[in-house]
Amino acid sequence: MDLPRGMRDVFGTELRGIELVRERFMRLAGLHGYDLVDPSPIESLQVLEAKSGPSIRDEIYAFRDKGGREVGLRFDFTVGLMRHAAAQRSMPLPAKLASFGGVFRYDEPQRGRYRYFHQWNVEVYGPSGPYEPATDVELAEFTYGMLDGLGLQNVSLRLNHRGLIQMLLNNTVGLNTPPMLRAMDRLQKRPREQLVSELVSAKIPRQKAEKVLDIASVSGTADTVESRLPVSGLEPWEQLREVLGMLEERGVPAEADLGIVRGLDYYSGVVFEAYAGSTDALAGGGRYDRFARAMGREDLGAAGAAGGVERTVLAMAEQDLLEEPGRRGTRIVYADGMQKEALLLASKLRSRGVPATADLSAKSFKKQFEAARSASRYAVILEKGSISVKDLESREQRRVSEEDLLADPQSYLP
Ligand code: HAM
Repeated sequence: MDLPRGMRDVFGTELRGIELVRERFMRLAGLHGYDLVDPSPIESLQVLEAKSGPSIRDEIYAFRDKGGREVGLRFDFTVGLMRHAAAQRSMPLPAKLASFGGVFRYDEPQRGRYRYFHQWNVEVYGPSGPYEPATDVELAEFTYGMLDGLGLQNVSLRLNHRGLIQMLLNNTVGLNTPPMLRAMDRLQKRPREQLVSELVSAKIPRQKAEKVLDIASVSGTADTVESRLPVSGLEPWEQLREVLGMLEERGVPAEADLGIVRGLDYYSGVVFEAYAGSTDALAGGGRYDRFARAMGREDLGAAGAAGGVERTVLAMAEQDLLEEPGRRGTRIVYADGMQKEALLLASKLRSRGVPATADLSAKSFKKQFEAARSASRYAVILEKGSISVKDLESREQRRVSEEDLLADPQSYLP
C-alpha cells in the first residue's frame, strides 16, 4: 500500500531531531515570553486567500468539506495566528504568539521540500505607528538563537527591506513590477542569463533587466551596500541599517542581502532569511503590516518568523549533530517462570521515576541478557530469592534487597 505522492512517514533519527528542535523552540519561546497557540489546521479558503490572493489555491491543499464549504489545510501559522489575533479586539498589545506543528503545502517534492512538514513560528502584534526596530531585532535574534542553540555552525541572517527594494527599483529602473521581484528572489538559485531572458520576455528592456539583477546581487555590510547602491538617506535603508547595527550589538551575525525578497505576498518592511551553510533557507520572516489591514485591523502592526524543522534537522545531520540514541533505561532480566514478578518490579521502578522494562514475550534468560546488553547500561537480575544489579559496561554485579532498591533506586541505577 503506497502513500500519496509527497507524503512520508517520519521516524527514527529524523523524528528525534524534530523533537530536539521542538524542545529548543519551547524553551526559547518561554525565555522570550511568547504565549503558545495551536491554530486550527483547517481554515476557510477565504481566510487562506486573504494572504496571497486566489492563486494560493494551486499551492495548498484545498477542497470542499462534506457540508460543501470551501476549506484548506494550513500552509503556515502566520495566517491562522493573524485571524486569531485580529478577532481578539481587547488583546493587550504588544502580543507575542508562538506555534509549533505540521503544515501542508502542495509543493513539488524534493530533498528538503515536502508536502507535509513542521514549522516553528513566532509572531509579534503591536499598535501600528511610527517604525521602531525593536520587534524586527527581537525576531531576528530569536531566529538566530533557535539555530545557534541547536549547535549549528555558520548560521547567518540575511536581511532586506521590501520598501527599500521598491524605492530602488523606482529610482534606478523607473518601475517596479511583480516579475522583477520574482527574478530578484530567484537570483540565488537560477542562472542570471535565464532570469534576464525571462524579464525580457515580460517586456522589460534588457538594460533594465540587468539593473534589476545588479541590485539583487548586492550583499554585505551596511558600508558595502552604501558603496554600491544609492541608498543613503532613504528611509527604509535607515531602518534596515539600524536593525543591522542592533543585531551586531547582540552578537548576531547578520548582513544585508538585496536579493532576499521573500515571495510576492504581504511583506511590507524588513524581511530576513536564515542559513547555515547550505543554499536552502532554514527560516524566514519579516514585517507584514499590510496583511493585518487585509484582515480588518488597520490598528495592528505585525511581524514574525518561521523555521522549517525538517530542513533544520537535515542541516544538523550534515553537521553531525544528531547522535544515535544512548542506552535507554534498565532491563529486568528474569529467570524462567518469574515473568510476573519481573513485570511487577519494572512497574514499581517506573512509578519511582526509573525507566524500566522487562521482556513481555518470556524469552530465555540468555536472550533477555543479550537484548539488555545492546539496549541498556544496567540490568536488574531477578532470580528465585535474589535480586542483583549489574553494570553491563564494567560487568560489576551486586546483590540488593527489593526494599533497598525501591527505597533509593537512583543510587543503584544512576
Ligand atoms: P516560509 O519561508 O514560506 O515562511 O517558510 C519558512 C521555512 O519553512 C522556510 O525557510 C523553510 O525552511 C521551510 N519550508 C518552506 N516550505 C517547505 C517545504 N515544502 N518543505 C520543507 N520545508 C519548507 C513562512 O512560512 C512565513 N509564515 C514566515 C513568517 C512568519 N512570516 C511572518 N511570520
